[in-house]
Amino acid sequence: MLWITLLVAVIVIVLWDLFQTEHSLLRTYPLVGHLRYIAEALGVYFRQFFYARDTEEEPFNRADRTWVYRAAKTADTTIGFGSTRNPRPIGTIYFVASPFPVLYREATETHPITIGPNCKYPYTTRSLINISAMSYGSISKNAILALSKGAKKANCWLNTGEGGISPYHLEGGCDLIAQIGTAKFGFCDENGNLSDSKLKEAAALDQVKMFEVKLSQGAKPGKGGILPASKVTPEIAKLRNVPLNKTVISPNRFLEIANSNDLLDFLYHIRQVTGKPTGFKCVLGDAKWLDDLCMEIRKKGLDYAPDFITLDGAEGGTGAAPMSLVDYMGYPIAESLPILVDKLVQYSLRERIKVIASGKLITPDMVVWALATGADLINSARGFMFALGCIQSLQCNKNTCPTGVATQNPWLEHGLDPTNKAERVYQYVKTLEHEVGIICHSCGVHEPRQLSRRHVRMVCENGTSVSLEEIYPDQVPLTQ
Ligand SMILES: Cc1cc2nc3c(=O)[nH]c(=O)nc-3n(C[C@H](O)[C@H](O)[C@H](O)COP(=O)(O)O)c2cc1C
Repeated sequence: MLWITLLVAVIVIVLWDLFQTEHSLLRTYPLVGHLRYIAEALGVYFRQFFYARDTEEEPFNRADRTWVYRAAKTADTTIGFGSTRNPRPIGTIYFVASPFPVLYREATETHPITIGPNCKYPYTTRSLINISAMSYGSISKNAILALSKGAKKANCWLNTGEGGISPYHLEGGCDLIAQIGTAKFGFCDENGNLSDSKLKEAAALDQVKMFEVKLSQGAKPGKGGILPASKVTPEIAKLRNVPLNKTVISPNRFLEIANSNDLLDFLYHIRQVTGKPTGFKCVLGDAKWLDDLCMEIRKKGLDYAPDFITLDGAEGGTGAAPMSLVDYMGYPIAESLPILVDKLVQYSLRERIKVIASGKLITPDMVVWALATGADLINSARGFMFALGCIQSLQCNKNTCPTGVATQNPWLEHGLDPTNKAERVYQYVKTLEHEVGIICHSCGVHEPRQLSRRHVRMVCENGTSVSLEEIYPDQVPLTQ
């Protein structure tokens, strides 16, 4: 009986292949032609094991991912024999070793930093590495639970992403940054306007430490959030106040913000209503805009300055975005971070506005580079996804994430155990901080906040290198 069923199935497939008009391959090679599609679908999973070299895969190569996996599992992160990264291509960075490294016993703790010192409720944190915005919707309930519990243990913050504050963000008890996206999910009234009462409600939560207005994110400047219909569950529809099972597309800009003046007024308003530090997130596109923004701040007064700017690199990740924007828009963080820091110095705003950097800063070397270049704090999204078990199957936009991170499918999600993965999130932060410290001591500084551009060199032509200090010399504040 089984054989007859199989034979009938094969005949049906062969006939369908022969007479369909969509796929020429199947018309020419009925039945066997399907092997190509099967290989294509499975290739993404197997390529990494059989064919790709350690430093070859995109967006994150296996060497970097393995470092995160091992860090999160507290496995040994040392390697044997020597570097596999040589020879160093142009653009590679390396650090300037001191002949007299700091003894571990002389190392000091990272200095705390205070954001929004003039707010009613300033935020002081010691945490260098924090969890970047990923909404409940783009990632699963269990992923959020693991992040919030892990963040609590690691003493770092969790950014809610643009989907609003969910019970799962709150459950772990960690510090939260409440993000307000262009659709203002969780923060708007029935007419779509920013709601002061909802802002106050969020600000009343002690866990909510700051508010972040998302102008843009690195992967898709000029495009709002996209939540595919398959991810819009009843709970998420209710949280966002959107229809069930319909793709949710946020506006590609805040209706209220058309220029720097509007932006500063918007931020000022949120800070006045909430009493908490308020800043914005963006990817840099036009560096000249920073002059405009800084001049506007100087004109309106320091009270109007954002308390922080989260600068995302064009290489940043996303739950879903058009490839044309992902691949071709915005400055990468390596280019935009020194520009932003230098502009703030020029306009004497460097002390007032803290800089949070993100964009593939998932390993100790990249974190040290960003801190030395001038970032105050680091955000990572995909580093933490790897800590949660993400295998880079690139399916965040499809609700089919096999590791239960970026899906709302209950069966896939159940594979991610929040308690186990919270521990991995914690261990990832701790190991990352520890190895950042190791690089610092090797450079001869006691803690990461003492790093400067002179500690970093970049390989240029003929294998020689040049100090970041020479590429981006110290800025002198402009006289007005
Ligand atoms: C699944 C996923 C969802 C994201 N959702 C948001 C979001 O809601 N708001 C936002 O500002 N950025 C969002 N991002 C971007 C990240 O917060 C971050 O800026 C970017 O991925 C760069 O960090 P990374 O290179 O460490 O991933 C998302 C990224 C991913 C991968």
